Amino acid sequence: MWIRWNLGLGSLESRHGFRGIQLLNSMESTPEFFLSNLVKGLSWTYYKSTCPRVESIVRKHLKKVFKEDVGQAAGLLRLHFHDCFVLGCDASVLLDGSASGPSEKNAVPNLTLRAKAFEIINDLRELVHKECGRVVSCADLVALAARDSVFLTGGPDYEVPLGRRDSLTFATEEATLNNLIPGTANTTFILNRLAIKKLDATDAVALSGGHTIGLGHCSSFEERLYPTRDPTMDKTFAKDLKKVCPTEGYNNTTVLDIRSPNKFDNKYYVNLVNRQGLFTSDQDLYTDPRTKDIVESFAADESLFFEKFVHSMLKMGQLSVLTGKKGEIRANCSVRNSDNKLFTSVVEDEAEEAWSELK
Ligand code: HEM
Repeated sequence: MWIRWNLGLGSLESRHGFRGIQLLNSMESTPEFFLSNLVKGLSWTYYKSTCPRVESIVRKHLKKVFKEDVGQAAGLLRLHFHDCFVLGCDASVLLDGSASGPSEKNAVPNLTLRAKAFEIINDLRELVHKECGRVVSCADLVALAARDSVFLTGGPDYEVPLGRRDSLTFATEEATLNNLIPGTANTTFILNRLAIKKLDATDAVALSGGHTIGLGHCSSFEERLYPTRDPTMDKTFAKDLKKVCPTEGYNNTTVLDIRSPNKFDNKYYVNLVNRQGLFTSDQDLYTDPRTKDIVESFAADESLFFEKFVHSMLKMGQLSVLTGKKGEIRANCSVRNSDNKLFTSVVEDEAEEAWSELK
């Protein structure tokens, strides 16, 4: 399904080579709302002249990657969330540690991000920079990869405003812990954390719908099984989970959405209504009276979920972005340019050449 933003940019259909239906009309979902509410510095046509094929390069590559392993889509979607919630969508999560200390990437909540997701972003960066030069940021590539992960697993397609730049720093472990949310969190905790970022209850429920694909480790939900079963968890579901995680501290993974683990759809909400949500953070959305009706409405109406999900992703994707002259465009997504020996020597060589030409 394709959620079409009629932005007056000409035919979006021809851009991605397929046809879709216009779904949206509710007030806050109109293109006008987003157009007038884009963060300053972001644009719907940012790379139009400098790298017009960036989106098709990303999509083509990810199609190939997901054909081999569809699980990578979940890894990339989660990466965008973890990037945006800590310091903003600035690719700070991609940076390797340095002599100054361990990086954001090494903070506990990020240890379960997939190593392969980091590699895929660097592969995309290489492909895109080969074609256009160092003009596209790693942060934009993460946002595009998340969008394509949603679409290529069956979810809505949507335009992503671009123009994010890459950070020069990464967050401390403390800041990372203070911004991300553990699976053991209840709805009150989630709503409070999201409110700081101006995200509301509908955003909380819609964004949690990202758990319609991907995997979780026993450590993220075992407190619901041991010492006693969380009463909000279906009995048979708990019995099956105990087979995956037979004791506390067992290192195994299971799917987040038992009905359709690799398909981006609204079955995650159907699971919640049937008490088959994996994490406390998921299931409590159906227990808490502030979010229960929203869960039910998404379980009953997939188009509504897609519409709200896109809306919330666009909000999340603009959190504290660096634009204009702030930050940089990294030559390697895991290393800031000033620490990048390969890059600084190329820049120095170029400066040397320019200098000798002047002489
Ligand atoms: C509401 C707050 C959220 C909480 C508490 C939460 C919690 C978690 C936890 C505990 C895991 C499993 C980690 C592990 O055990 O390996 C996970 C995985 C995942 N999360 Fe979230 N999450 C939240 C929001 C989001 C958002 C906003 C998205 C994207 C829109 C998202 C997408 C994913 C995906 C796709 C996975 C599976 C990753 C994989 O298979 O590699 N989550 N999340």
